[in-house]
Amino acid sequence: EKEYDYLVVGAGLFGSVFAHEMTKRSKKCLVIDKRNHLGGNVYCEEKEGINVHKYGAHIFHTNDKRIWDYVNQFASFNNYINSPLSLSKGKLYNLPFNMNTFYQLWGTQTPQEAKAIIDEQVAKYGTKSPKNLEEQALSLVGKDIYETFIKEYTEKQWGKKATELPAFIIKRLPVRYTYNNNYFNDRYQGIPIGGYNTIINGLLKGIETKTNVDFFKEREQLEGLADKIVYTGKIDEFFDYKHGQLEYRSLRFENELHAIENYQGNAVVNYNDSSFAFTRIIEHKHFEFGKQSKTIITKEYPEAWDPSKEAYYPINNDKNQGVYQEYKKESQKLSNVIFGGRLAEYRYYDMHQIIASSLTKVEEILGIEK
Ligand code: FDA
Repeated sequence: EKEYDYLVVGAGLFGSVFAHEMTKRSKKCLVIDKRNHLGGNVYCEEKEGINVHKYGAHIFHTNDKRIWDYVNQFASFNNYINSPLSLSKGKLYNLPFNMNTFYQLWGTQTPQEAKAIIDEQVAKYGTKSPKNLEEQALSLVGKDIYETFIKEYTEKQWGKKATELPAFIIKRLPVRYTYNNNYFNDRYQGIPIGGYNTIINGLLKGIETKTNVDFFKEREQLEGLADKIVYTGKIDEFFDYKHGQLEYRSLRFENELHAIENYQGNAVVNYNDSSFAFTRIIEHKHFEFGKQSKTIITKEYPEAWDPSKEAYYPINNDKNQGVYQEYKKESQKLSNVIFGGRLAEYRYYDMHQIIASSLTKVEEILGIEK
C-alpha cells in the first residue's frame, strides 16, 4: 500500500482538475510543482492590487456549457470581452478583422464594399496552391490586410520571414462583415473575479500540494509514494531526451509600473510593425475594469527557446511531430503513468480544452460514460 493513489506532477489546470476530480472520489492525491507557486501558466501575481498575468494574457472562453458550469463552481466571471487593437504604421485599428477594421483601413461603410476590395485583392495577389505563409495569407485576405496586420507581426512571432514559414501555420483568417470587435465567437467569455488563482485554489482546496519540488530531482523517492503518476511536464524530459529534444518558441515579458491610472485604454494592443521588437502590450487592470491609481503593463517579446527558458509554443513541424510520436509510443507502454496537458502532449491547448481533456482522462480511468 503506497501513501497516495496519485502523484500529480504539475499544478497547472490539467493537474489541478485531475486532482480535484479524483479527490472527490476519495482518491488520495499529492500535487507537486517545480515552480514556487501553484496554477501553472494561468497563475497571476498581485502587484499594486492588480492581477498580473505572469505567463501571458489569459482570457477564458468556451462554447461548452459543461466547461463553463465547471469553472463557475470555483469563481464567478466578469463580463470582459476581448477586443484587442492593432497599432500599425502609426494608426490604431480594431481587431479581429471586421467592418470597423475595414472602415479604418479603406473607409468602406457597407459589407459589400469591403468584400469587393478583399475579393479583388485575393484575385490579384492570391495563388491556387500557396507555398508559404505569405502566399497563404495573400490568398485568404489580400494585400492590405496582410501587409497591415499579419506580415511583420508574424515574422516577429516566429523569428522568420513570412516567405520562409510554412503555409499551414495560417489555416484560416476569419473576416467578419459586421461591426463586431469581440475577438472570440464563443458563447461564454470572461475573467474570473478574484483572478485565476481563485479557480486554482478552489480546485486544490483540501489537497496536499508541494511547490519548489522538481520531479526529476527526487524521482525515485517520489515514485515510491504513489500507485500512479499523472505527469504534466515535458514528455521528452520524462524519457531523458532519448529520442531527441522537442523545440518550442519562447516569450520574454517585461513589466512596467506607471504612476498613471490608464496607460493605453485597452487590455490588449498589438504592435504590428517590425520597428517594435515586442508584439503586444498588455495592460492587466483592464481585464478586471480596475480603478487603481497606478497601472502595470507588460511588453511581450517573442524569443528563441532554449532549455533555460519557458516553453510556450510547440513548433509543429514534421521533425518535432516525428520525435513526439516516438515519445508517445513509449508513454503508452507505461501503465502506471498518465500523460496529460500541453507539455506532455506537445500541443497548444486553450484553457477550456485542457479542462475538458483532464475531465475526459478522469472519466476514462473511472470508466464513466460522458
Ligand atoms: P501548465 O504549463 O499550466 O502546467 C504544467 C505545470 O507542470 C507547470 O506549473 C510546471 O511548472 C509543472 N512542471 C513541469 N515539469 C515539472 C517537473 N519536472 N516537476 C514538477 N513540476 C513540473 N488559453 C486560453 O484559454 N485563453 C488565453 O487567453 C490563453 N492565453 C495564453 C497565452 C500564452 C502566452 C500561452 C503560452 C498560453 C495561453 N493559453 C490561453 C493556454 C493556457 O495557458 C493553457 O491551456 C494552460 O495553462 C495549460 O495547462 P497545463 O496544466 O497543461 O500546463
